[in-house]
Formats: sequence, C-alpha cells, structure tokens
Amino acid sequence: MAEKNQNQYHPPESNGYHRSDQESVPTMEDEEAKRKKRMKWTIGIIAFVIFQVVQALFFVLVIMKFKSPKFRVAEFDVQTLTTGTQASPSFNLSFVAPIRVKNTNWGPFKYDASTVDFTYEGVQVGQAIIPKSKANFKSTKKINVNVTLSSVNLPSDVNSTLGSDLSAGVINLSSQGELRGKVTVMFMFKKRKTSLMNCTMAINTSTKAVQSLSCQ
Ligand SMILES: *[C@@H]1O[C@H](CO)[C@@H](O)[C@H](O)[C@H]1NC(C)=O
Ligand SMILES: *[C@@H]1O[C@H](CO)[C@@H](O)[C@H](O)[C@H]1NC(C)=O
Ligand SMILES: *[C@@H]1O[C@H](CO)[C@@H](O)[C@H](O)[C@H]1NC(C)=O
Ligand SMILES: *[C@@H]1O[C@H](CO)[C@@H](O)[C@H](O)[C@H]1NC(C)=O
Ligand SMILES: *[C@@H]1O[C@H](CO)[C@@H](O)[C@H](O)[C@H]1NC(C)=O
Ligand SMILES: *[C@@H]1O[C@H](CO)[C@@H](O)[C@H](O)[C@H]1NC(C)=O
Repeated sequence: MAEKNQNQYHPPESNGYHRSDQESVPTMEDEEAKRKKRMKWTIGIIAFVIFQVVQALFFVLVIMKFKSPKFRVAEFDVQTLTTGTQASPSFNLSFVAPIRVKNTNWGPFKYDASTVDFTYEGVQVGQAIIPKSKANFKSTKKINVNVTLSSVNLPSDVNSTLGSDLSAGVINLSSQGELRGKVTVMFMFKKRKTSLMNCTMAINTSTKAVQSLSCQ
C-alpha cells in the first residue's frame, strides 16, 4: 500500500527523472533531430532571404528599367513610282508604310496621336498619320499607313539635286517622327517616354525597290 501510495504520489517526478535517465540515448537523437530541424529552418530562412533579394534585384534591374520603345519604318514595297526627267525633275511615290513601335518594357506603352514626316533633302514630301494607340507588354505594334510622296512642293534650289539623283537612278528619303507616351509597369508604375524615329532609305528608280533602309 505504502509503495503503491508512494508510486501513486510520485509519478510525475519519478517518471520525469526516469525518462531522462533511461532515455538518455533517445534524447541525444531528439537533440540531433532538433538540431537538424533548426538547420533546416536556418537554411530555409537564408534561402527565402536570398530569394527576396534576387526578386528585388530583378524587379529593380529588369522590370523597373523603363526604355524608350523603338519607332521605325520597316522594309516595304513601292506600289507606284513615276519620275520626271533630269530637265524637269519630279517624282510621285506611293506605298504602304509599315510603321513599327517595338516595346521592350514589362508593361504597355500608350502613345498619343502623331505623324511621321517623309523628307527629301530636308523638305517634307509626304506624311503618315499615326493614330493614338498602344503597344502591348513586350510586343511590336504594327501600323500600316498608305503614304503618297510627291515632289510638287520642293523649292527650286532642291531641283538640281533631284535632277542629279534621278539621273543616278536613286532617290534618298528620310522619315522623322516623335511618339510621346507613357509606359505602365505592374499596373501602377508609370513613366513618360518619347520615341524618336530617324530613318533613311534609298529608292532605286529603275527597279522601284527600296535599296537600303536604316534607322537610328
Ligand atoms: C505627280 O502628281 C502630281 C499631282 O497629282 C502631278 O501634277 C504630277 O504630274 C505627277 N508627276 C509625275 C512625275 O507623275
Ligand atoms: C491603302 O491602299 C490600299 C490600296 O492600295 C487599299 O486597299 C487600302 O484600303 C488602303 N488602306 C487605307 C488604310 O487607306
Ligand atoms: C524645277 O526645275 C524645272 C526645270 O528647270 C522647272 O520647270 C520647275 O518649275 C522647277 N521646280 C521648282 C519647284 O522650282
Ligand atoms: C538599281 O538596281 C539595279 C538592279 O538591281 C542595279 O543594277 C542598279 O545599279 C541600281 N541602281 C543604283 C543607283 O544603285
Ligand atoms: C543616298 O544614299 C546612299 C546610301 O544609302 C549614299 O551612298 C548616297 O551618297 C546618297 N545620295 C545622296 C544624293 O545623298
Ligand atoms: C538622323 O540621323 C542622321 C544620320 O543618319 C543624322 O545626321 C541626323 O542628325 C539625325 N537627326 C536627328 C533629328 O536625330
């Protein structure tokens, strides 16, 4: 009875002591397991912090890099070309101008209506109208505009240059334009961007083909 009473009276302490004494080996295993668990947590936290830092760097260095979209004229086919003579130099030229707005940003570029001016020797010979629109996230907006260029408005001092160009069989043209808009990244970060077009092209009057086209 006394023993039983003692046993009944002491269980928490004796059991506690007995366990720690008897299960000294399992306890070391417990410690080992705890240590491993702590290690896992530490590695997990470090990995998480590294992930966060990499994510933040990616965000700042890649996504938040606002770049001006590229604004240019792509290669095209001349539809009609009529030229005057060297004595009476003139030209009429029509084609579908493939205007391209290449947006490499991580968000859309919304731009205002604009124009592209085609010039010969710095004098405007035609114009393409660019309606207000947008170039989507990492994509190229394609705008095809019918353009007619004519030398009717060229001043007389450009006449002789055109005459020699026509006898050489090539007409050099330029196209300039400015596209003003706003890039929006992640639906909230906005930045104004302006894209400039500055292209030159040479048109072969005998083949009626665009011989060279380059944009800055
Ligand atoms: C170009 O077009 C204008 C007006 O349409 C015309 O008067 C002129 O004769 C044309 N020139 C040529 C070379 O076709
Ligand atoms: C451009 O010209 C072609 C014919 O050359 C015509 O079919 C087309 O509808 C025109 N496009 C525009 C936008 O005027
Ligand atoms: C260009 O020269 C031709 C021939 O000399 C002349 O007939 C024509 O009127 C001139 N054009 C201009 C715009 O002066
Ligand atoms: C125009 O193109 C033809 C055929 O490719 C070529 O023989 C000629 O040299 C070109 N003209 C000029 C001015 O480059
Ligand atoms: C036209 O452009 C070509 C190159 O594209 C160049 O070699 C040539 O000198 C230019 N001609 C004129 C009259 O500017
Ligand atoms: C366009 O590019 C030409 C060279 O091809 C350069 O001489 C000219 O200054 C440029 N114009 C603008 C407005 O940037």
